[in-house]
Amino acid sequence: KTEKLNYPVCIYKTGEEEYTALLLECTHKGCELHPSGDYLICPCHGSEFTNKGIVQNPPAEENLRTFLITTDHENIYIQL
Ligand code: FES
Repeated sequence: KTEKLNYPVCIYKTGEEEYTALLLECTHKGCELHPSGDYLICPCHGSEFTNKGIVQNPPAEENLRTFLITTDHENIYIQL
């Protein structure tokens, strides 16, 4: 969490040196998403997103907001 954003950011490791950072704000009506394995599920109306932020199930139509990530083999930096 950060004061700059109204929702937490979720980080997934998707490969040896690959990560995704996603804002947990549903693009349908703004409920906070719940991570569930490799998916993010909206408790309000059931939208689902992949761990890369891609919509899998409506009613949401837009993908999640993502953030650029860089690493130096010890730390992960998220550009907000
Ligand atoms: Fe997430 Fe409606 S607010 S599906």
